[in-house]
Amino acid sequence: MVDTLRGNFPTNLPTIVVVGSTMMDMITYIDKVPESGETLIGDSFALGFGGKGANQSVMASRMGANVYMVNTLGDDLFGDSTLKNFHDQGIDTSFIERTKGASGVAPIWVEKDGSNRIICVPGSNNSMTPEQAVRAIESIDNIDIVIGQLEIPQEVTAAAFRAAQKKGIRTILNPAPFAPLSAELLAASDWIAPNEHEFAAMDPQRRSPDSDETIGDLARLLGKRILVTLGELGAAFTTTTGEIVRIPSPKVNAIDTTGAGDSFVGAFAYGLASGMPEELAVKLGCACASKSVTRRGTQSSYSSKEEAQEIIKAVTS
Ligand code: RIB
Repeated sequence: MVDTLRGNFPTNLPTIVVVGSTMMDMITYIDKVPESGETLIGDSFALGFGGKGANQSVMASRMGANVYMVNTLGDDLFGDSTLKNFHDQGIDTSFIERTKGASGVAPIWVEKDGSNRIICVPGSNNSMTPEQAVRAIESIDNIDIVIGQLEIPQEVTAAAFRAAQKKGIRTILNPAPFAPLSAELLAASDWIAPNEHEFAAMDPQRRSPDSDETIGDLARLLGKRILVTLGELGAAFTTTTGEIVRIPSPKVNAIDTTGAGDSFVGAFAYGLASGMPEELAVKLGCACASKSVTRRGTQSSYSSKEEAQEIIKAVTS
């Protein structure tokens, strides 16, 4: 039973703020993408809500967190429908601004084996400002976690994370799509959560996270907690004492991997924000990501609120 409300949210649930991107995903399903100069007939097409920030916010909300999205949308139809989607998902949009011009879009190609290729055109995401992000972090009470990615200007995420750290709030950076991290952003990040490719891009010797030694080396070099996703092998993270813990993923038949990493981050953030042991929070991330790859689309492939509750029960019992 909820006794008091903060804004529209119950006060007894974990609170997560996502300072990140929104995109309209334009997904083409095809056996094999064309070569340069080649035209092919695709199998099917779907328009869906995406953007790494939006996806992570939706997953965290479906898990049961109070979620605030901080973003800037364009003044186009994609902006209108994205805003409506956040309302439908129960996500607070008080810190979403609008600007003239196009919202972000992401043409995506998914091949028969479920692998994807994505081009993000950020549009209005690039109009976000550090002031907007700081205003959100300073105004929202009882934030447990702030999440960021690299589809908006890094100075915006860095400003949000700095403001979060001043309030003693933990921050998770999903360094995707990969770009070299500014010293300011790195300094204000508690957890760095890359996939295997982003991990290798961050490693000075371009090593993949195959061995515990490689993961430990990068964690020591950056002075950060590392949580790396390993595709069908699950994920690995560094503990506070520098050990590496590996969590396997449930075995599934993957048909579309788009957005799986975002469902992992959103579910992990929920687990951490709820006070679960880190190992369980990572298990939760793996369980949600492996469900998402068995269905088509990005947010459309994520567990419903009901399924999310079943996953939490299974992981924590
Ligand atoms: O991680 C998947 C997401 O990357 C897609 O939703 C697309 O919009 C891009 O941001």
